[in-house]
Amino acid sequence: MRRIVTPLSVAPWMAVLACTAVAGAARAQLSPDVAPVEPRKVEVSLTAARSSLALRAGTSTPVFSYNGTVPGPALEFFEGDEVVITFRNDLPVETTVHWHGFHVPFDADGSPFHPVAPGETYEYRFTVPRGTAGTYWYHPHPNHRTGPQVARGLYGAIVVRAADDPLAALPEQVLILSDNRLTEAGEIDLPDPHSMHGRRDRENGREGELLLVNGQVMPTLTIRSGEVQRWRVINASAGRSYRLALAGQTLLHVGSDGGLFERPVEVAELLVSPSERVEFLVRGTGAPGSSTVLQALPYDRYVPQTRPDNWNQTRGLATLTYSADTPMTPPMLPPTLRKVERIDTALATATRVVVLSQGLINGKQMDMSRVDVSSTVGATEIWQVENLVGMDHPFHLHGFRFQVIDRNGVPEPFASWKDAVNVPKHETARFIVTYDDFPGKWMFHCHILDHEDHGMMGILEVRSD
Ligand code: C2O
Ligand code: CU
Ligand code: CU
Repeated sequence: MRRIVTPLSVAPWMAVLACTAVAGAARAQLSPDVAPVEPRKVEVSLTAARSSLALRAGTSTPVFSYNGTVPGPALEFFEGDEVVITFRNDLPVETTVHWHGFHVPFDADGSPFHPVAPGETYEYRFTVPRGTAGTYWYHPHPNHRTGPQVARGLYGAIVVRAADDPLAALPEQVLILSDNRLTEAGEIDLPDPHSMHGRRDRENGREGELLLVNGQVMPTLTIRSGEVQRWRVINASAGRSYRLALAGQTLLHVGSDGGLFERPVEVAELLVSPSERVEFLVRGTGAPGSSTVLQALPYDRYVPQTRPDNWNQTRGLATLTYSADTPMTPPMLPPTLRKVERIDTALATATRVVVLSQGLINGKQMDMSRVDVSSTVGATEIWQVENLVGMDHPFHLHGFRFQVIDRNGVPEPFASWKDAVNVPKHETARFIVTYDDFPGKWMFHCHILDHEDHGMMGILEVRSD
């Protein structure tokens, strides 16, 4: 049987299976063996509530969770699915659920425009578009409070599958990366914004020394010699970027935020900035019984004044253990994965220049009553995102996937679908986007949650005329 979940020793993911409360016409299958061709109706119930977790031995940490688990239940959809998510807010505070990277109607986006008050229920309805198979995630998006709610435990993975997935035969692992920090009493450390720690969090984006993979510290993943596994990695951290490597092995990079590339690319490491996703293949080149480590290599995204002292240390994220089984014959991999058509830059009717400085976009803080960029349904535009300051800012646009054209003038080597792009210190990235279908107001922002919460965000209005 194929699994998209990690065979961890302690498995919150097992709870996840039971928690994906699905009623109605079809189940949100977690291990589909036969891909459906007909569009399905999928119903999911999701409840955000307080619970507690044993994050440190001997203490219990009060958290916020979706359906009682951290991460929340892994959702799995097929392209074409008609989805209804009945969300209930049992938290003492206002929240929303945002389907990061999804192309959905305005009122289903879970942006700050549609808050859900404590005790209220909200129905998110959308159809999963064809061609969007990929790795996504969901998280709260209330005005000014996204960071603390994600830090308390509200985040979960979404996998969208295509009926003709060329890699369907490979075993899968979904890895959600996050980091956290606890107080001495074992509570999630969310300091006063005016304290020393609070100011550092606001500058850097909140980081913690607890590095978690699917809510676990240094879990063990297993592979068989010769086996090829497909890993989907989601960066759900508020500020931390991960320079991923598997000690002693290269990776086959096969996809980014919005799914597969045309062809696999062999790489030694992959940078995943906040909210980004990567898909890669791990080829089991080790001997039976051996092991290796999934590492976060040092990455300097910081300004020198607030750079953490240990930024230059390599950190372990998970152990990859080779089973004792005799090596298997590696499967044949398809030379091409799927067609990814480049959007023709000649179609662009405007270039939007977005200047990032510390905490501001085009010199302004976000204002819910202001429209920063105004356009119409169907328009194709180029966004030029310039980072003026000495710190990376991962830039994200809601509602519409885009293609990176170039980074600092260097053309993107191949086409891929993205919804977030890291703009390193003093660099510029350009992307092209078509505003398909949905009129509404769409946020664009830095995905360092502390920056977003403090107003490093703007509004794109797409009108239907
Ligand atoms: Cu994960 Cu406004 O986004
Ligand atoms: Cu988003
Ligand atoms: Cu930022």
